Amino acid sequence: MSTSSSTAAERDLKRDFLKIVFVNFGVLLICFSIFFVNHHENNKYIIETLALNGSAEEGDALFKINCVGCHGITARGLVGPDLHSITKRLNDKEIIKQVTGGLTPPMPSFEIDPVNMSNLLKYLHSLE
Ligand code: HEC
Repeated sequence: MSTSSSTAAERDLKRDFLKIVFVNFGVLLICFSIFFVNHHENNKYIIETLALNGSAEEGDALFKINCVGCHGITARGLVGPDLHSITKRLNDKEIIKQVTGGLTPPMPSFEIDPVNMSNLLKYLHSLE
C-alpha cells in the first residue's frame, strides 16, 4: 500500500517536472524566435540605409529638428557631445545603432526611416 502510493506521488512529480520542462522549452523557443526576427529586421534596416545616398541638406534640416537641443545648433555639443569628426570615430553602422538604439540615455531612440537616416549620415559626414 505504502509502496503503491509513493509510486503514484512519484508519477505525479514526474508529470509536473515534464510539464515544467515543456513550458520552459516553449518560452525559450519564443524568446529565440523574437531575437532572431529582431536581429534580421535590424540588419535589413541597416543594409537598406547604407545602400542609399542621402542628402546632407535634408539631413541638416532633420538634425535641426531632432538633435540640436542636445548636440547644439552647429553640432558642437551641449548636453550631448560634439559630433564633428564623429564619422572618423564611429562607422556608419555604429552611428545608425546610436541613433535608433536608445542605448545611451538620455539620448532617446529615434524611429527614423532609411531615407532620412541616410540623410542624417550624409550630414554627419559633412561635419568632418
Ligand atoms: C536628449 C538629448 C539628445 C538628443 C535629442 C540627441 N542626442 Fe545624441 N547623444 C546625447 C548624449 C547625452 C550622448 C552621449 C551618450 C553617451 O555616450 O553616453 C549622445 C551621443 C550621440 C552620438 C555618439 C557620440 C559619440 O561621441 O560617441 C551620436 C552620433 C549622436 N548622439 C547623434 C545624435 C543624432 C543624429 C540625434 C538626432 C537624431 C541625437 N543624437 C539626438 C544626447 C542626445
